[in-house]
Amino acid sequence: MTDVSNPEIEKLEHTLVGLDPSMVRCPYAYYGALRDEPGLYYSQALGCYVVSRFDDVSKVVSDADLFTSRYSMGPPAFADADRARIWSAAGTDPEFADCRNEPPWIEQEERTLVSADGEAHARTRKVVNLVFAPRRVNRLAPRIEEISAELIEGISHRDSWDFVPSFTQPYPSLVICAALGVPPEDWHLFNGWIGDIARGVGSLNLSEEDQYRRLRAHRDLSAYVRAMLKSRALEPRDDLVSVIATGAGTDAHLSANEQLDIVIQLLFAGNETTGNLLASALLRLGSDLQLQSRLRSQPTLIPPFLEEMLRLESPVQALFRTATRDTYIAGTAIPAGSAVMVVFASGNRDPAHFTDADNMQPLERLSERAQVHLSFGRGVHYCVGAPLARLDTRIALEQILGRLPMFELDTPEEAVERKPSFILHGPESVKVRRQRP
Ligand code: HEM
Repeated sequence: MTDVSNPEIEKLEHTLVGLDPSMVRCPYAYYGALRDEPGLYYSQALGCYVVSRFDDVSKVVSDADLFTSRYSMGPPAFADADRARIWSAAGTDPEFADCRNEPPWIEQEERTLVSADGEAHARTRKVVNLVFAPRRVNRLAPRIEEISAELIEGISHRDSWDFVPSFTQPYPSLVICAALGVPPEDWHLFNGWIGDIARGVGSLNLSEEDQYRRLRAHRDLSAYVRAMLKSRALEPRDDLVSVIATGAGTDAHLSANEQLDIVIQLLFAGNETTGNLLASALLRLGSDLQLQSRLRSQPTLIPPFLEEMLRLESPVQALFRTATRDTYIAGTAIPAGSAVMVVFASGNRDPAHFTDADNMQPLERLSERAQVHLSFGRGVHYCVGAPLARLDTRIALEQILGRLPMFELDTPEEAVERKPSFILHGPESVKVRRQRP
């Protein structure tokens, strides 16, 4: 390992990894310092190299042969600690005894989509591509509009509200439940399980209690999804879980564990990320009333605004890869087997790639350029849900701005805490009130 330690960066990194609220809200000084390093920084805290420049991030995630996704959600040491925890609970705690016969999602050997490579990835991606074909996604639009309208109806009579519990939390869950064919009344079950599991993403110091909540969530979510897959295999319906359960329309034969993994990845990926993007966008609009008023009078600017929010407040700040061979990135030697963290959010603010990278670009001129951000990844793992995320966030903002009066933040933007994670990024709350005259 090259010694590239830099005390200044180390200090910033410790603050971020230690989840200091002001650093989690605004990690951009840390990313800037990483980009200014001559080579790649090696993070002792995370046990991996940190890739921060736009071109380097893009190269690493585009080369799936050289960089495996086997451990995409965290360096191997953290993933292995999670697995060990499950087995230790299964061995000692009667509450988890069943996990030995029917391992929960986290403990599976089969890998699909985001943590699969090569043929296994291509096979499972083929099914999901079918599931998210534009024709299917567009068919969902009327239902998504209804879901959004119902939630807005529930808050339109009030003078103040928090957009997170009232809108950005339930909305993506209800949408993904509708897409997959999960009964809408069960959305809160999924939302709770996914929320508990997400607490372990980008957080190294979970309390014992939170660890147990995660284990329970893994176990209960896995049991629910397994039961749903079994019932759809016997009696398929016109929904996405049925497509996955039967493999209809593809020649892919998915094992029961692969099916489970795919459904849970879709539920997980479609929930936290979209909700965080919407919450960041609403926070921005509550603090910039001129922008809010412009988007109200020119709704065609909503899509470029959302692209800029994806770039500036990337809901997935970073993910991980592992080098399969000795290689170099930015002139730094990376030995085979090394973990690297690819920081999409840093590449998105790289001044070598974007002019005035830390600020919102003029929206009128953005239509094509904005989409070059890294927030949905690159290459074979490019976000399969991007068309759905773009559709449902656009519908939500159009309706919120079309149906609710001008709103302003109740608390200053810099006092709003972000979710405690250095991977998933979004506000804990967006408390607003009707604009005062
Ligand atoms: C704003 C919302 C979203 C953001 C920012 C986002 C971000 C990402 C990123 C960065 C990746 C690349 C992972 C990698 O390279 O390792 C990814 C992959 C993925 N996303 Fe999304 N996502 C969003 C919404 C969604 C939605 C709505 C769904 C599904 C309903 C979804 C499902 C997936 C899946 C299944 C993958 C794995 C694809 C593969 O490995 O082939 N995402 N997403």
